[in-house]
Amino acid sequence: MNRINILAIESSCDDTSAAVIADGVVLSNCVANQEVHHQYGGVVPEVASRAHQASIIPVVEMAIHKAGIAKSDLQAVAFTRGPGLLGSLLVGTSFAKAFALSYQLPLIEVNHMQAHVLAHFAEDPKPKFPFLCLTVSGGHTQIVLVRNFLDMEFIGQTLDDAAGEAFDKSGKLLGLGYPAGPLIDRYAREGQPRFPFPEPVIPGLDFSFSGLKTSILYFLKKEVAGNPNFIQENLADICASIQETIVTVLLKKLRKAARQTGIREIAIAGGVSANSGLRAALAAMGEKEGWTTYIPDFQYCTDNAGMIGINAYYKYLAGEFCGQDAAPYAR
Ligand code: KG4
Ligand code: ZN
Repeated sequence: MNRINILAIESSCDDTSAAVIADGVVLSNCVANQEVHHQYGGVVPEVASRAHQASIIPVVEMAIHKAGIAKSDLQAVAFTRGPGLLGSLLVGTSFAKAFALSYQLPLIEVNHMQAHVLAHFAEDPKPKFPFLCLTVSGGHTQIVLVRNFLDMEFIGQTLDDAAGEAFDKSGKLLGLGYPAGPLIDRYAREGQPRFPFPEPVIPGLDFSFSGLKTSILYFLKKEVAGNPNFIQENLADICASIQETIVTVLLKKLRKAARQTGIREIAIAGGVSANSGLRAALAAMGEKEGWTTYIPDFQYCTDNAGMIGINAYYKYLAGEFCGQDAAPYAR
């Protein structure tokens, strides 16, 4: 029997990505990062959609070339329909639709957050169902109860800022560039978490990170008033403290979810799962709680079309296709 080759497109935020997936195995996964946003301290939606326009054709060509297949070998085209920035999503969505029309291929729409969870099926070891996945990115913070490939329940989420946003906004207060998450991670390795920030008290399995940003702001104002060089002199310790607070909040809720559901297969996904403090703390908590933990390879943590293709493969098997009228959604 012929392989099921799927071309997948991801353009929800500031990464233009294309991948080719054969029977659920990633053959190529190409990402063009948009460095242009660094100078603005955050993603500028209009700039992002223009950059997607410039990158999408070369990225798709590269993904097909690297996979070693011809366009005529494809069986379907998949795209991220949402959530994300509408202008960005429109580029990937329109490209996928035009490609599908011209090669007479069926279309598969994919939810970006479901795809982050299914990134775990790109490589071994793969989690066993049911498992819990903490999905932490620049736009979302969710605890997902995953019963099967296409059967997921969102049992906890952030009420305001996402975990990645908490890293990025804290970094902005420290004068770090965008995205600040990886920079805070790097500085934190050299520091000690000796500036305790208050943890939010939120019932159930939900999160809140907006208070953290405010307490960091007041803390810095007070310290800088006494010593104008406070940030430069204590950068590593401040970063370690911010990271420790965010990681502690995330893991306490994850432990609560695990105890409530009795599930011990525990995964993390999304851009923030690249954080070395979170990875180490998850491993330590997993050992204590008797969990089997799963952390995707770095390339599958941040936004990539490989995860979109994996999700699309299971939708293909379930016969879940969409029409040319599938419009992108922001949330
Ligand atoms: O999943 P992702 O690539 O894009 C979204 O869907 O949002 O996540 C991006 C987020 C950014 O907020 C970035 O600062 C954060 O992931 N991030 C990190 C690390 N690497 C990326 N945060 C903390 N530590 C890291 N090493
Ligand atoms: Zn994402």
